[in-house]
Amino acid sequence: MKIRNPLYRRLFLLLAAAGCASPLFGGALTNPETEKRIDSLLERMTLQEKVGQLVQYSDVFNTGPAADNDRNRRRNERIRTGQIGSLLNVTGAQATRETQKLAVEGSRLRIPLIFGLDVIHGYKTSFPIPLAEAASFDMETVALSARIAAIEAAAAGIHWTFAPMVDIARDARWGRIMEGAGEDPYLGAQVAAARVRGFQGNDLAAVDTIAACAKHYAAYGFAEGGRDYNTVDVSEHTLRNVVLPPFKAASEAGVVTFMNAFNEIGGVPATASAFLQRTILKGEWGFEGFIVSDWNSIGELVQHGVAKDGREAARLAITAGSDMDMESSVYDRHLVELAESGAVDKRLIDDAVRRVLRVKFRLGLFDDPYRYSNDERERRALADPAHSEAAREVARQSIVLLRNEGGLLPLGKTGGILAVIGPLADDTDTPKGNWRGRAATDPAVSLLEGIRAAVGSDVKVRHAAGARLDVIDRGFFRQVRFDEEDRSGFPAAIEAARDADAVILAIGETAFQTGEAQSQVEISLQPIHVDLLREVHAVNRNVVLVLMNGRPLVIGEIAETVPAIVEAWHLGAQAGHAIADVLFGDYNPSGKLPVSFPRHVGQEPLYYNAKNTGRPGPQESFYSYYTDCPNTPLYPFGFGLSYTTFEYSDLKLSRQEIGPDDELRVTVTVANTGQRTGVEVAQLYIRDLVGSVTRPVKELKGFQKVELAPGEAKAIAFTVTSKDLAFYTAAGRWEAEPGAFDVYVGGNSDDLQKAEFTLR
Ligand code: NOJ
Repeated sequence: MKIRNPLYRRLFLLLAAAGCASPLFGGALTNPETEKRIDSLLERMTLQEKVGQLVQYSDVFNTGPAADNDRNRRRNERIRTGQIGSLLNVTGAQATRETQKLAVEGSRLRIPLIFGLDVIHGYKTSFPIPLAEAASFDMETVALSARIAAIEAAAAGIHWTFAPMVDIARDARWGRIMEGAGEDPYLGAQVAAARVRGFQGNDLAAVDTIAACAKHYAAYGFAEGGRDYNTVDVSEHTLRNVVLPPFKAASEAGVVTFMNAFNEIGGVPATASAFLQRTILKGEWGFEGFIVSDWNSIGELVQHGVAKDGREAARLAITAGSDMDMESSVYDRHLVELAESGAVDKRLIDDAVRRVLRVKFRLGLFDDPYRYSNDERERRALADPAHSEAAREVARQSIVLLRNEGGLLPLGKTGGILAVIGPLADDTDTPKGNWRGRAATDPAVSLLEGIRAAVGSDVKVRHAAGARLDVIDRGFFRQVRFDEEDRSGFPAAIEAARDADAVILAIGETAFQTGEAQSQVEISLQPIHVDLLREVHAVNRNVVLVLMNGRPLVIGEIAETVPAIVEAWHLGAQAGHAIADVLFGDYNPSGKLPVSFPRHVGQEPLYYNAKNTGRPGPQESFYSYYTDCPNTPLYPFGFGLSYTTFEYSDLKLSRQEIGPDDELRVTVTVANTGQRTGVEVAQLYIRDLVGSVTRPVKELKGFQKVELAPGEAKAIAFTVTSKDLAFYTAAGRWEAEPGAFDVYVGGNSDDLQKAEFTLR
């Protein structure tokens, strides 16, 4: 990666210093000395105090113990009596310090609280939404964003983030697709590990690292119909081969907590699944940290219909391995009695408490419970200009150029007129996306502001929104919503566009249109915005469409009519500057889609690594297709253009046959055949032609970013081993099966060179 700014270079050094760049988190979570200290605590703890460690409650946003109301008084008393082990949503050095004081100076055994928060894409400095960051295909960039989020959150007293969300998402109707790395298990696993490294570094006790949490375990992204919280019914085949790899990667990267999920899988709610939590996670993978439930997911076992009441829900969850109860109060109310009556084995409670205490020890909280809550560090970290600089860099790398007919982009910066149009063009809220940490009220740089800053007075910039964006809530969750009726702004927009040299038109989704509980059956652009675009395009063909969205959108005929399309997601605080960097060619885009863009919502779930089926076609009829829409996506996984062009040639394999312990070297030449220096993400896919179970038509197994000057060509090499060919077989083992494989290399999942080899 090109480091264009000394501030940013400093951050990279920070990344290296914290060990975030190294492949493995340092060491196991357990060590004999800590285990001994935990033994001694467990001996002294009453049953009530043990259960207290497994109880987590939410604070009302932005209040510390000072807020004088009944709820807080009750909560404070419970902390002093050791009945609460963790809080979420208490933020700020002062509030966390004062609350911590209640536990360590007020309670009998002085066990510190652990403070958690959803730090999803930045704490104060807002970074691109995770789906966008995955488009960078750059694991240092992904780790850096997490690293900075950790520095800021830790300084504000946060010990633990409920991130990364590593759910594979194949259905764009599911609103939470914005929160993960997209549809692919390999990319998802790389991103999961990178984010864990970024948050945790290699020393969890350092004052600028925080505990991470792999969520939502498991298969939450497979909700039927893309409807959030809905039923999931995936086979063990899909679970092991598609859903679990990112979780496993997070575990191997040393993540110290997991969060279970709201959904059921095949009749068993994840929160009550011993198979997921005990057999796989704590058993097969040897996970030594703790599992927190999702918000009230233990209580919801009653609604799921597997528990008749809260008591039964608590019994099921603790038995299945859910260690900490987020917000449902059922551990609080029932675990003591359940253990005393023998309905729950006390050893299960000891084990859960041990896991929670391990993480608290590892965070250094027993040495200094206030170490994270530092006003001075908080002030400094939250105002560090290098963080904004990094947010801009990460945002630029997340942008995907989808179309650039006739080389309309990049635009010139000297002279002429630019019309900047669309309801999102000057919106400072949308770019921050959903889950915005403590950046709630800070404005992002709008596209218009970014453009103005880039061109100064050399270009005349006209702005006309064309369609309205209404602010419907100015509170903490400030919300804006498109006005779908009011066309009174059209004439001004059309006039602004008429004699402009180019039009930049920003539409898509508002921030809270994706995220939790934001599923939609319609994922097309708003009809009013399509009309605006058509009418503007009718007077000026030079339209650059800037899409801001948290999920793949259906864009219809626009994909063919508008000459330039830039996928700008929800890019965070520096969005406007980052997009302007791309529009004016100060940055040559290199992002690639981490998720397929459908032609029609009816194709969902849509993903490139599908199965061949028994009737792959194409034939005249009776094969697997729709009669009214192609099977193919509009834009495939891995797709993204550049201001230059790349050509792949000379795909070679070091051998035609490999044994189980051999390495296959796959080399290919990538040439920059255009006029500008650019970065290409070269991707390697494989296909296992015959398996004991059916295998996907393609599977990503590697990618590399390569920078090339105009006319330059480089040979790049990938290594493939039997480990890369392994999957969960019919025999119930993770292993590679001998036989024939195809290997593909290219610039996206649909445009690839092919070779063949055999595994002995
Ligand atoms: C519910 C969400 O599903 C989860 O991801 C989040 O961490 C918790 N709420 C806490 O806010």
